[in-house]
Amino acid sequence: MRTHFPLILLVSAFIACQSASKAPAIPFNKYTSSYSNFDSVTCTKLDWTAKVDFEKKQIVATAVWHFKNTTNAPTIRLDTYDLSIHKVLVNNRQVDFYLSQFNEEYGSGLSIPLINGDSILSIEYTTGSKAKALQWLSPEQTAGKVKPYLFTQCESIQARSLVPCQDVPAIRITYNADVQVPVGMLALMSAKNPIEKNPNGTYHFEMELPVPTYLIALAVGDIEYKAIDSRSGVYTEPSMLAKAANELSEIPQMMQAAESICGPYRWGKYDVLVAPPSFPIGGMENPRLTFSTPTIIAGDKSLVSLIAHEMAHSWSGNLVTNANWKDIWLNEGYTTYFERRIMEKVAGKSYNDMLWELGYQDLLSDFDTYGITHADTKLSLDLNGRNPENAFSNIPYEKGAVFLKTLEENCGRAKFDKYLNDYFNHYAFQSMNTELALKFMDQNLFNGDTLFRNKLKVREWIYGPGLPDNFVPTNPSRFIAVDSVRNSFEKIGVITTLELKNWTTHEWLHFLRKLGRPQSLSSMTYLDQNFNLSKSQNSEIAAEWFKLSISSNYAIAYPELEKFLSKVGRKKFLEPLYGEMKKSKENSAMAQRIFAASKKNYHPLTAIKIEKLLNKK
Ligand code: BES
Ligand code: ZN
Repeated sequence: MRTHFPLILLVSAFIACQSASKAPAIPFNKYTSSYSNFDSVTCTKLDWTAKVDFEKKQIVATAVWHFKNTTNAPTIRLDTYDLSIHKVLVNNRQVDFYLSQFNEEYGSGLSIPLINGDSILSIEYTTGSKAKALQWLSPEQTAGKVKPYLFTQCESIQARSLVPCQDVPAIRITYNADVQVPVGMLALMSAKNPIEKNPNGTYHFEMELPVPTYLIALAVGDIEYKAIDSRSGVYTEPSMLAKAANELSEIPQMMQAAESICGPYRWGKYDVLVAPPSFPIGGMENPRLTFSTPTIIAGDKSLVSLIAHEMAHSWSGNLVTNANWKDIWLNEGYTTYFERRIMEKVAGKSYNDMLWELGYQDLLSDFDTYGITHADTKLSLDLNGRNPENAFSNIPYEKGAVFLKTLEENCGRAKFDKYLNDYFNHYAFQSMNTELALKFMDQNLFNGDTLFRNKLKVREWIYGPGLPDNFVPTNPSRFIAVDSVRNSFEKIGVITTLELKNWTTHEWLHFLRKLGRPQSLSSMTYLDQNFNLSKSQNSEIAAEWFKLSISSNYAIAYPELEKFLSKVGRKKFLEPLYGEMKKSKENSAMAQRIFAASKKNYHPLTAIKIEKLLNKK
């Protein structure tokens, strides 16, 4: 024993010396996924000055934060991600700041010393090449092919790579911004927006209503505007503008429907930016300006329920916001329910029943993947120590929506709608958690009738896995005919009825999803030759067809599949398609090849996800 003693001394001296030379670590809160001490010092307003540099692919900016330090905390801590911090001033005095070690998932904490009475700080910084909120597109990645393009995607914890901030949905800020972009480009934010280009490339923005940081957004490109009515319109690249405006012409009707259900729209204008195809998700509910994938522009308005969804977030999410990502069902479940209510009004019940059924199929597929007892199938999630990005699935959306639908059917629509209105009005511009939402429900929907509430199994819906047995089943009457066509096709290999001529996108989706796999070469060829599916211009139908093609080894579709994957960056399509390819050896090689060639068109987060998926054993 004694012989080891000096060695132990030596080792502990080494450790002590190492930690003494290190600056103190900044505590990271695993519950909020944040380094910030927003509980003691709270940011309230941002003045942002930014210059967008397409050559260096960076934003050079100054963030001026107004904050309240009611607890007299000695430091304010902010979230950052790969930001170079040049200079920090607090109430006009330059201070020494400290940036903690970089973490791939969460970035670095930025700690700034305060003294009593401080209320404003200014940070000069430059964004980094690892910024997860930013996607820089080369001219070739745009429709016009002449100018580059930049857009942001800050939900859920990416805002910190755009601006140092308290990156939690529990706090709300207002913001003003002055943004300088190259001449000839338009800049847009989730704020009051210009409708034409400024000759000097300078733009001023104001968001005077308080929003969480994940709703800060910026897009810069060769973008033009076309009004649909006085409060709505479409922004997109010039060559897409007429088509996009035509596709989205029902926005005013949707808005009217939304307001008739949940009360007045409070954000002024409601516009949509149709982004380039590499936009990583379907849509993002940035206030006043939804960002959307161009893959919803099908030519027949059949995919616009996505806009109803993002619009619905103007109430559920943007007005009343999940305080913590573990309660994402409060954002996405309420929104999915509300989206379907809007669609019922604008497209009719039988159409909407198809949306409910397809959503239900997505839900069942996730139950299947997770296993019905898995904790991630609960509405109230346990995200402690997990990056919220990796925990989202169809569960908060579709289980959340079915839960609310079940409440509606049991309480009656009139009563349920009154409750919804009261909820949004009572908590407008505030954050919400599951417990508070349930309490409000107890008081305003069940009026204290706990017996009735328990009969509806409310606690089981929220805190239990899987689907409680009192869920309201879907009733997709229009799919009955689709099933019978499919059954007969699977028996005889041809389709004899002309009924398909009247099928909408959703009937096709149901048909393709339910076909057994693998299909024979002759069946695939028959469908392709008769309905031109490999060349479908409808992204949802194309993606469903490609999935079936991969699992049936229908190689004739592969060149089109490859074209699709080299252009479209929408995660919802990429994950299942690459996932399907991974199932066989030959297709795995194809997946690797396509990914290597296409990943430059994918958002950094999506590329990471697909890479992980492909390399998983
Ligand atoms: N808010 C979400 C997008 C989101 C969720 C971004 C979680 C980051 C983390 C948006 O409203 C959404 O749900 N978009 C869907 C489309 C919708 C119709 C289901 C999408 O992008 O697929
Ligand atoms: Zn959503």
